[in-house]
Amino acid sequence: MTRFQLAFIATPALGNLVPLLEFALLLTKHDPRFSATVLTISLPQRPLVNTYLQSRATSATNLRLLHLPPVDPPAPDHYQSSVAFLSLHIHNHKHHVRNALLSLLPSESNNSVPLAAVFVDMFCTSFVDVAAELSVPCYLFFASPASFLGFTLHLPRVGSESEFEIPSFENPVPRAVLPNLVLDANDGLSWMLRHAGRYMETKGIVVNTLHELEPHAVQSLYNDSRLPRVYPIGPVLDLVGSAQWDPNPAQYKRIMEWLDQQPAGSVVFLCFGSLGSMKANQVGEIAIGLERAGVRFLWALREPPKAQLEDPRDYANEDALPVPEGFLERTSGKGLVCGWVPQAKVLGHGSVGGFVSHCGWNSILESLWHGVPIATWPVYAEQQMNAFQMVRELGLAVEISVDYRVGGDLVRAEQVERGVRTLMEGGDEIRRKVKEMSGKCREALMENGSSYNNLVSLIQELTG
Ligand SMILES: *[C@@H]1O[C@H](CO)[C@@H](O)[C@H](O)[C@H]1NC(C)=O
Ligand SMILES: *[C@@H]1O[C@H](CO)[C@@H](O)[C@H](O)[C@H]1NC(C)=O
Ligand SMILES: *[C@@H]1O[C@H](CO)[C@@H](O)[C@H](O)[C@H]1NC(C)=O
Repeated sequence: MTRFQLAFIATPALGNLVPLLEFALLLTKHDPRFSATVLTISLPQRPLVNTYLQSRATSATNLRLLHLPPVDPPAPDHYQSSVAFLSLHIHNHKHHVRNALLSLLPSESNNSVPLAAVFVDMFCTSFVDVAAELSVPCYLFFASPASFLGFTLHLPRVGSESEFEIPSFENPVPRAVLPNLVLDANDGLSWMLRHAGRYMETKGIVVNTLHELEPHAVQSLYNDSRLPRVYPIGPVLDLVGSAQWDPNPAQYKRIMEWLDQQPAGSVVFLCFGSLGSMKANQVGEIAIGLERAGVRFLWALREPPKAQLEDPRDYANEDALPVPEGFLERTSGKGLVCGWVPQAKVLGHGSVGGFVSHCGWNSILESLWHGVPIATWPVYAEQQMNAFQMVRELGLAVEISVDYRVGGDLVRAEQVERGVRTLMEGGDEIRRKVKEMSGKCREALMENGSSYNNLVSLIQELTG
């Protein structure tokens, strides 16, 4: 049945990998002529990435994993920023990627199925050359919003300005929401400039968004004559996978049973992403704010990693939680503090009525899909810009903070209380708009929907 092979390579981070894998699954499901091979890069500090890949790929029929041989991560004196660390680590797999793609190319001795394309993600542009050398069409798969893709193509040199005109944003972008990679102007910025330059050399750019969500940003990309064709095909989400590989099924059961007992739409869910964790003093402010707001809550609270680049982990037990004295007793029955949770499953539960989120793009798409409004609390990467977009550009979220970042000022208990109250008790206009966008997300993927049509055009190009 297979008539075309496709190859995929992503950054070894859940935020990048999850949507890329779902996109590969979407293509193979939509058109059984495709078979997909995902080339995987490992990172010793991130074992979860491989656990996830294994569990998600085993259920797939037309998709297989090809593990690239391990490469030692760069030594600390070879990079300053995490963007440079990741980019360099990925770059050091170039030779292995070349060999892997060569093994997929048709030859007389084995298969005769052409390799129709290789998809690389935002930090994997070192492989654009490899694809060109082997004459395989190379596409970019972009797992962040169209607004941020536009930003990478207009990276500002930051001087004393307080705001910046970026074509993919309707409003001037305040300095305070720019990502560290621009503000620090270190090797992260030079890597990003290099990546963005390569985006323009690809055959096409697939973005995990939908035109209806980011009309201005998407139009600004369509208008940019330097770019190849842009395909908004989202939202591509993993709504089931994370429950299957949950490292703590007993906790999952406990959470779902607790949610079952709460009134519809009454619970605010707090979760800061697969890499999100907070220092004890910030945890204390959240606890006080939640208690004062007096709302029902489910709080995924995780311990900061001991070493750089490692994943946060669950606290060993309740006594280890850095919450104020007596907090768990006082909020017992009303709130639940937990560790790792399958986020999409929780957002899909009818008792959840609001989401305090770090504004990673996958989280934003999941909550829009389920029609749950967000209160923004960005932490790292491009999340401050995502928060700004959701609050100011799109009016789809309540603001707790748009410019919090690790190492920055604390968000005070009053801010938490006000944000959570607005999210759960006010914010009717936002709630209405989020419900409407939820419908648009679903329509976009249905036959003749905007993302569906873009996927069909992409497939025509891949097989034409
Ligand atoms: C296909 O053949 C090439 C060249 O003969 C070889 O290098 C490669 O490993 C083979 N691939 C598979 C999947 O057997
Ligand atoms: C795109 O180009 C059209 C025609 O030049 C222009 O009217 C429009 O404002 C542009 N939109 C964006 C978002 O850049
Ligand atoms: C999609 O559009 C085509 C062509 O306009 C039409 O024939 C078909 O019935 C549409 N399908 C749905 C589900 O609306």
